[in-house]
Order: sequence, then C-alpha cells, then structure tokens
Amino acid sequence: MPHTDLRSDTVTQPTLAMRHAMMDAPLGDDVLGDDPTVKRLEAMAAERAGKEAALFTPSGTMANLLAIRVSTQLGDEVLMYAGAHPFNYEAAGAAAFAGVQIRTLDATDGIISAETLQGSFRPEDDHYAPAQLLSLEDTANRGGGTVHTLEQLDTLTGIAHDRGLNTHLDGARAFNAVVQSGVSLARRARGFDTVQFCFSKGLGAPVGSVLCGSTDAVRVARRMRKALGGGMRQSGLLAAAAIYALDNHVERLADDHQNAQRLFEGLTAAGFAVKPPHTNMVYVTVDDAPAWQDQLAEVGVMCFSVSPTELRLVTHLGVDETAIQHAISSFEQNVPG
Ligand SMILES: Cc1ncc(COP(=O)(O)O)c(C=O)c1O
Repeated sequence: MPHTDLRSDTVTQPTLAMRHAMMDAPLGDDVLGDDPTVKRLEAMAAERAGKEAALFTPSGTMANLLAIRVSTQLGDEVLMYAGAHPFNYEAAGAAAFAGVQIRTLDATDGIISAETLQGSFRPEDDHYAPAQLLSLEDTANRGGGTVHTLEQLDTLTGIAHDRGLNTHLDGARAFNAVVQSGVSLARRARGFDTVQFCFSKGLGAPVGSVLCGSTDAVRVARRMRKALGGGMRQSGLLAAAAIYALDNHVERLADDHQNAQRLFEGLTAAGFAVKPPHTNMVYVTVDDAPAWQDQLAEVGVMCFSVSPTELRLVTHLGVDETAIQHAISSFEQNVPG
C-alpha cells in the first residue's frame, strides 16, 4: 500500500546527502562554547535573519519561550492571534516558565489587522497586565499557512514599537514565507526584535530551531536555554543538518507550494470544499474530520483533523506528484460510510 504522510512537514526524514554532511561535521562541546559547526550555523542564521546574534535550540517551542522570556517580566501580557502556536500547542510554557499571560487577538487567516492591534491596547491601570510583547506567526499555521505582506509586518511591528512593546516573529516556517513572497528573511524580520525559525519543518532537518536577535538578548537566552536543560554538547551533528538545509532546501520549498496547489485543484475538482493554499498547507472542510482521518489512514494517507470539520494536509520534501495523486484519489474513493 502506498504511504503518503501529509500530517506535517515535521515528518521529513534527513536525506542521504544531509546525513553525509552530519557525518563530516567537525564537533566540540557547545556548552563549553567550542563546537565550530554550531558556531557556523548561528552566524549563518543571524546573517539570514539580519540580526546580531543567534542561538541554536532543540525546538521551536524552546526558541519561542526564550524569546518571550527575554522580552518580558513576570505578570506581563503577550499579544498574539488566537490560533498562535505558543497559545495552543506549547503546553502553557509561556505561563509556566516565563510567568506571562497570553492575550489573544482576533485575526483573519492568522493575520491581525492594524485596527485590531490598535484597539487592543488598554490604558495604564493597576487592573491590567501591561502588554509587553507582540508575537506574530509567519507563515500562520492555523491561519492556513498564510503569509503576511511586508506592509502588514512593518505596520504591526511599528504600532507595537510606538506603544513600547517588543516584537517577536514566530517564523517556524519563515522560509516558506520568504520563497512565497520573494522577500529576504532579513527584510521581512526587520521590524522584529527577535525571530525564531525551525530547521525541522519544511527545511527537512531532523532537529532544531534558532533564536535570532541582539547580542544582549541572545546572551540572556543562552543562559535561559541552559536553565531549561537545553544546553547541548556535540550538537554540531545536528547543526550540520541545519546548515545543509539552509544551503540546499530553501528554494525547493517552491515545489511544496506547487504540490499544495495541485492538491487544492484536485480536491476542488472532486467536489470538496478546500481553502486555496498560500504555501504548503491545505485545509479541507468535511462533515466528520476524525472519521475522515481514520478512513484515509486505512488507505495509507495520513493527515490531521484539526477541528471537528477540518482536515489539514501539509506538503513537504517527502511528498511528490505521485503522492499527491494518491491523496486525491483516496479522497475521491473513501468517503466515510
Ligand atoms: C508556528 C509554529 N511555531 C512553533 C512551532 C514549534 O516547533 P517545535 O515543534 O520545534 O517545538 C511549530 C511546530 O509545528 C509551529 O508550527
């Protein structure tokens, strides 16, 4: 039976060439500051993001937490859209380990409007937690893999800075946005104090993210990473995979976007209600999403039901045109009984 895994772009396996790059990497003890491959990755990442420094972290979850930790104090408020990853899928880490309250804002397809942000600020009053950080997600995962325009990014970060807030970009899939928009990460991230991006999603590396920001912010984040148990020793092995991904797997994200478009067209032609994809995510509305998920799994198509009536299908480097055809024909033939 063919196996088409559309659950997430996190399911990618390191390619043979990536594994070779890992084998060949010079290593050291990064907690002692002497892993040359980690240092090289951090320098590359900082340059790509247009920031002074970067820190390699085990996950995007930790990078987001560190960003929140360095930008806020206990009892502060962090603003983000209601579907944002730290609010929904990071096990309340921001509350538990950074002592902040997340306040969610309405958004359309994961994108907060300038009016909504402006209207969210409350007067200084002892009743209110002070808003100290605005966190945007680009691409916006639960928004549909949507990409902010440059104008939206600049406007929202400008408003936040004018109000004295710090700004963080959760760019777990920042390079999908870069490839879709044709605008560099450094430019897209210009208005942000910190930015994190993941190597373990569409870039196809097995592990890791990076938090980029000022030298001071990264110094504090490095100590916090240690406190959280995220100091890693010969992590150059993992950094080598991330370097390989940055060098070889960015442009090819366009293939994933094209496959998402094919999936959208095929499923639409078959009569399904599908949101037009912006990048590598396809959201399909069905009557009973958990039943669909189970039925599709029986014929080798894996995906996630993300609400009672919505399935999310994600394309990535393990998905080719044949897999897309397999998914489309499985949808056509496997309407749950
Ligand atoms: C938008 C977004 N932010 C952060 C993360 C967290 O990344 P990780 O799974 O590496 O902790 C994810 C993971 O899917 C994500 O989609």
